Amino acid sequence: MKKLFIKTYGCQMNTYDSARMADLLAPLGYGAVDTPEGADMVILNTCHIREKAAEKVYSELGRLKALKRAKPDMLVAVAGCVAQAEGQEMVARAPVVDMVVGPQSYHRLPEMIARHAREAGHVLETDFPALEKFDSFPEVTSDSGISAFLTVQEGCDKFCTFCVVPYTRGPEHSRSPERIIAEAKALAARGAREIMLLGQNVNAYRGTDSHGRAWNLARLIEALAKVKDIWRIRYTTSHPRDMDDDLIAAHGEIEKLMPFLHLPVQSGSDSVLAAMNRQHSADDYRGLIARLRAVRPDIAFSSDFIVGFPGESEADFEATMALVREIKFAQCFSFKYSPRPGTPAAAAKKLVAETVKNERLQRLQTLLLDQQDQANLAAIGKTMPVLFEKPGRGKRQWVGRSPWLQPVHVEGAASLLGTIADVKIACLTANSLHGALVADAFHSVPA
Ligand code: SAH
Ligand code: SF4
Ligand code: F3S
Repeated sequence: MKKLFIKTYGCQMNTYDSARMADLLAPLGYGAVDTPEGADMVILNTCHIREKAAEKVYSELGRLKALKRAKPDMLVAVAGCVAQAEGQEMVARAPVVDMVVGPQSYHRLPEMIARHAREAGHVLETDFPALEKFDSFPEVTSDSGISAFLTVQEGCDKFCTFCVVPYTRGPEHSRSPERIIAEAKALAARGAREIMLLGQNVNAYRGTDSHGRAWNLARLIEALAKVKDIWRIRYTTSHPRDMDDDLIAAHGEIEKLMPFLHLPVQSGSDSVLAAMNRQHSADDYRGLIARLRAVRPDIAFSSDFIVGFPGESEADFEATMALVREIKFAQCFSFKYSPRPGTPAAAAKKLVAETVKNERLQRLQTLLLDQQDQANLAAIGKTMPVLFEKPGRGKRQWVGRSPWLQPVHVEGAASLLGTIADVKIACLTANSLHGALVADAFHSVPA
């Protein structure tokens, strides 16, 4: 067996792509290993979203240089969004790189490896043949776990002024519903019980079936809810503008659709939202949250926020704080604005000072963490169905997720793995809930 080490940065779509790359390379005799030492091939699957994320790749390449000196035939490939954005510069800056492959071209890896063996020099593939990629996906053979990722949509046509994704992932493209359903069945056969549908704008999903009929995300979820042995369905990441009536209604109608939604708002200020080209107002967002809560009263929300976007005033930032206080999120991600090469916002003149960004980020994160704690504390004393996904640290300890995506720890038998059982929540440590199995409420399918 040849040893393949893949290191994944960035979003869940990269995690999904890494698994597909492993599946593609398995027929060539590559098997996954956990460290780069002694590997025959190393793939860095990279992220370009913020400056720090992209810089990590270059420091990792520095470390790989030493390994390659010890094993000169080790292949080094850079995949993902940095590969797409900086492919050419990368081979010049880091000669250790043998191959550069963009997120829409990695189905060509086997042929790139062959080409690299034949010809001297670097091999570069950074086209956007999304259709071709999805059509040439191999069958799922890697272990995808109890909760499995399934990419249904890729790319972005929204062009928020701060974001690199439309440039690194290309235009929006949806996979055919039949292929997605077949993949969900294959994942279920390999033990998956929860499917996380992925897309940069997953709720912009518009698939076409073999009869030429168009499917939206709500229809896809409805069909996936009928797949045997899939008990839970989630989707991420959504854009507020694509939250259509069908999808909102689905949250009230489809029991397998979990009551947790990641719906990034970025800012609570209308002028910042406009400068970001989000094409909705803070009130539009409030309205969506209210409609979702009306159909599914126990639904919990998470969001992404950017602080210190160019031109963000103290009043703008306060509008974000006010929106957060009002909505109450169960979880959140917040970032300091990072100018990205080639994006419109990177040319802005009215920059927010780094010290101000730091201070705002801290204020926002304190509030968000407090809300997260409140959401977790509210679970104490309640009984909830938990899907068990993996062993915990302690002996006989198992970790699962509540419907609201909270990690839940219990003690029990190994047979818990891959089942849903009712747990009475006893306490909270850091971000994890701890509880005890409710006797006789053990069920392997949702009640
Ligand atoms: N498609 C998703 C988000 C993809 S990127 C959406 O529309 O919401 C994930 C998150 O990274 C974004 O929601 C945003 O909060 C953050 N992000 C993207 N570009 C950034 C930048 N230039 N600086 C700081 N944060 C950024
Ligand atoms: Fe980036 Fe905006 Fe597209 Fe999300 S919707 S991926 S933030 S451009
Ligand atoms: Fe990063 Fe690309 Fe995902 S930039 S967040 S890996 S789409």
